[in-house]
Amino acid sequence: MKQLPTSDPRSFMQQADVHCAYCNGGYKQKGYSNVSFQVHRSWLFFPFHRWYLYFFERICGKLLQDDTFALPFWNYDSPSGMQIPAMFNESSSPLYDRLRNQDHLPPVVVDLNWGSRVTGISPDKNQINYNLNLMYKQMITNATTPRLFMGQPYRAGDEYPTSSGSGSIEIAPHIPVHAWTGDPKQHFMENMGTFYAAARDPIFYAHHANIDRLWNIWVNNLGGKLFSDPDWLESSFVFYNEEAKPVTVKVKDCLDSTRLGYVYEDIDIPWLDAKP
Ligand code: C2O
Repeated sequence: MKQLPTSDPRSFMQQADVHCAYCNGGYKQKGYSNVSFQVHRSWLFFPFHRWYLYFFERICGKLLQDDTFALPFWNYDSPSGMQIPAMFNESSSPLYDRLRNQDHLPPVVVDLNWGSRVTGISPDKNQINYNLNLMYKQMITNATTPRLFMGQPYRAGDEYPTSSGSGSIEIAPHIPVHAWTGDPKQHFMENMGTFYAAARDPIFYAHHANIDRLWNIWVNNLGGKLFSDPDWLESSFVFYNEEAKPVTVKVKDCLDSTRLGYVYEDIDIPWLDAKP
């Protein structure tokens, strides 16, 4: 992917730039040429990133000539996953990125509430316990409605969403993992700490695979209910597929990940009994 010419929409650079285009005002809303489009801070957060990863994974599979290829998820909601996974740390690997916080390399344990975006969790000297408490809070306590978990409605013509529109998981652990991973010596905490550059770090895709997995857990294990609003279900995005052809996809067609051809490994969920 990194070796493809940047003119190829399947190249790593263009795939990373998909994030920039959808997050840094690259598009205006259809019919509202003065309103920028944004896929964060609203109910588009989960479905946009699911479709984004779906095509990224298909492209990898095509280039690898392996249609069973599956993106790994960074399992930072479980103690054994609470540091940058080894596969991303080998400097000769294409999964490596030098623009990361050098004080956060293994064995440093991630802070899932880095920047303290979520209040009301008692400090715990043990970072692992604190992270499990944070997960419980964001997946259960602060996630009792579709609006609270998935983000606020965002319809044609609506103003650019502000951070108050974010759902619980987008607020944390999603943003903290970005900010904790990015390099504070860079102007915008590149790569992971800023929209335009985040997906230039290969760990982005493993981070978002876990966010996507948490969405499935909320629905399948915790009984979370999705929106039934047609404005959500009919929202659409354009991506390039593995044949480098543009395709339009709708939110309603990604809600069941098994229909997209994948499930997540059924592993222990240690925060389920970590009520703060
Ligand atoms: Cu589109 Cu993790 O951000």
